Amino acid sequence: MTAWWRDAVIYQVYVRSFADGDGDGVGDLIGIRDRLPYLAGLGVDAVWLTPFYRSPMADFGYDVADYRDVDPMFGTLADAKALIDEAHQHRLRVIVDIVPNHTSAAHPWFQEALRGEKRDRYIFRDQPNDWESIFGGPAWTQVADGQWYLHLFDPAQPDLNWDNEEVRGEFESILRFWLDLGVDGFRVDVAHGMVKPAGLPDIGKGNQARMVGREPVPFFDNDGVHEIHRAWRRVLDSYPGERIGVAEAWAPTPERLARYVRPDELHQAFNFHYLFAPWDAAELRAVIDSSLATAASVGAPTTWVLSNHDVKRHVTRYGSLARARAAALLTLALPGSAYVYQGEELGLPEVLDLPPEVCRDPQRLRDPDSGRDGCRVPLPWTRESGWADPWLPIPADWAELSVEAQDGVPGSTLELYRAALRLRRSFEGELIWHDSPRGTLVFSRGELVCAVNFTETPVDFGLEGELLLASDEPGAANSAAWLKVKCRA
Ligand code: GLC
Repeated sequence: MTAWWRDAVIYQVYVRSFADGDGDGVGDLIGIRDRLPYLAGLGVDAVWLTPFYRSPMADFGYDVADYRDVDPMFGTLADAKALIDEAHQHRLRVIVDIVPNHTSAAHPWFQEALRGEKRDRYIFRDQPNDWESIFGGPAWTQVADGQWYLHLFDPAQPDLNWDNEEVRGEFESILRFWLDLGVDGFRVDVAHGMVKPAGLPDIGKGNQARMVGREPVPFFDNDGVHEIHRAWRRVLDSYPGERIGVAEAWAPTPERLARYVRPDELHQAFNFHYLFAPWDAAELRAVIDSSLATAASVGAPTTWVLSNHDVKRHVTRYGSLARARAAALLTLALPGSAYVYQGEELGLPEVLDLPPEVCRDPQRLRDPDSGRDGCRVPLPWTRESGWADPWLPIPADWAELSVEAQDGVPGSTLELYRAALRLRRSFEGELIWHDSPRGTLVFSRGELVCAVNFTETPVDFGLEGELLLASDEPGAANSAAWLKVKCRA
């Protein structure tokens, strides 16, 4: 079995918003099963499913009450098994989310802790420190008998105590449960957060990180997390077929991030430095170079990502669909593995005008503009949307962005992605940069060249060769093109 994950394209399914099989307005596992032919036809290698476990949904499933069962909203365990098996028949691998930093407050362990039993599985103290929750407000909540418990996220997401051996054992057992069911890997939620610094030191007023992981904070990226990832790697390696672990790790630098993908740790880590780079030739080139160099230093592939369920969609971040289409060609030409967030293949923008009464993301508490509902709006399958009563309203002007409207239409974003996912396999080997006009980037890998114009004016790249694919007229403002060049000067 080859190391399939080294150059795989992995499609993120945000289960709630992907496809609704039972017509209740919330996406589910049968909905995904029905759409496996769509995913296989798109040309991705694997799907990552966001949490579908039993949960009160305080953080949309990232608050897990039972790690070994499916929430009735999403289906049953039998549906999960059927989905995994059928995906495999379509040659799609399946990665599931695992949430080890915290459980739901409804988890039986936390319920016991509230009754004063076995509190050591969580982080209870007589006095809180000054940490703030990522979602806003204090990271501590007081319980009836006066003690406080730590929650780096919502109060409904109490942090586990990873110094407790029972916690470690339980999670290895959960990994085995899903591996036995046939999953090909795990996306590890908050992989940088499980281990807290000894003594839980105060941060000091004014130093609280507003953005997760962009500046060092004492509760993230502690060296102790790596021991857990090593233990998990041993579990993954004990199964046949290259099962993988993907770190959602917000580390301050590419160097710190590379530590999560050392040979005996996880296989991939999301490249958020790439995701957050602005639409700028020089800045993107610098991030690409540092990502390639740091990943290579530990023998890992890079993992490119432009959007996910936690950030503003890149059409909106970059400011136009033209740029997003060009960014897709740039990303899919780079060496390594790439993630596609559901809907980016349709060119969906962030929905910025959701009525406040439908917004439910707990992160809104930090400040209303940071809410993540706008990137989680259900996928438009048809011009009429394909949803009976979607849990978030689908904008009327998405009719022309729907799968139905773009399917088979030359030049549509959906067809651009389909072609790119088919052709990207022809890019082989190392990336070599070539001189190009200011505000542009040109690189080759083997015989293939990717040329990107980041500027607002057309450029003549002067490249001779066969044009394979382009996001717009070759050389146009905010465009990218792939060419096959036989003999380069
Ligand atoms: C991760 C998830 C995010 C969730 C948080 C807490 O960052 O991607 O959606 O809110 O963890 O589990």
